[in-house]
Amino acid sequence: MNKSNSSRILNSGLHVAILLDGNGRWAAARGLPRSEGHRAGVTAVHRVVRCAPSLGIGTLTLYAFSSNNWDRPASEVASLLGLLESYLRGAAGECESDGVRVRVIGRRDRIPPSLVEAIEAVERRTAGGDRLEVRIALDYSSRQAILRASCWMLSSLEVSEREFARRLGQVTHGGEPAPDVDLLIRTGGERRLSDFMLWECAYAELLFTPRMWPEFEAADLEAAVDDYLRRERRFGRLPEAAAS
Ligand code: IPE
Ligand code: IPE
Ligand code: MG
Repeated sequence: MNKSNSSRILNSGLHVAILLDGNGRWAAARGLPRSEGHRAGVTAVHRVVRCAPSLGIGTLTLYAFSSNNWDRPASEVASLLGLLESYLRGAAGECESDGVRVRVIGRRDRIPPSLVEAIEAVERRTAGGDRLEVRIALDYSSRQAILRASCWMLSSLEVSEREFARRLGQVTHGGEPAPDVDLLIRTGGERRLSDFMLWECAYAELLFTPRMWPEFEAADLEAAVDDYLRRERRFGRLPEAAAS
């Protein structure tokens, strides 16, 4: 399949973005170290990646490590980055055979070289995937990305939204711009965006759930998509009933 065909299939699905939050509290509630929460969080990532295509999701962006998460204790940062590296190495084969294209968005100049290698390897190996694109946000800051893309465009007098989105994709290693987010889910009970996809979520439907990320099941994702499908997206227009 050529590249434009495969992009079309991915773009026809929903773009769901998830802030994977609550690993630490899940672990604390069980008397476990926070790192065990992150480990259980990786298992939940496997679950949602497996069920996403059957729910009509074409792009799944998962917020795994924010640029502000560098401010956590060094031992927690090391355990998170180590888990992410083993996830990327371990999931490559299954993603390849399931038609899942993996991309990692965010900065790559501050993470360990072995993690950069793992990213490049999984991206190469899964590049042909056309059922689902999974984008893992790692050392990611939406504000920083918008700033970098804006600086790049400073000399242009007029910039279209499309062109800006393309630059944003480039500064975060995202390749082609991702479609706008349709549904943003945050687990863990907080109701904030924490610097995630501020541009791409301009018209996203938001769903906040108290469920902690390690206990997020396929059925929760299905319920979230059902909830989304019942909403009316208006993009500034009148409701369907009033317009006709
Ligand atoms: C999400 O869980 C993982 C990351 C933010 C890296 P947390 O580690 O934030 O868990 P809580 O919010 O402290 O429970
Ligand atoms: C947001 O979670 C970042 C990720 C999910 C990776 P945080 O736990 O870091 O967010 P705050 O600090 O509660 O806003
Ligand atoms: Mg948190």
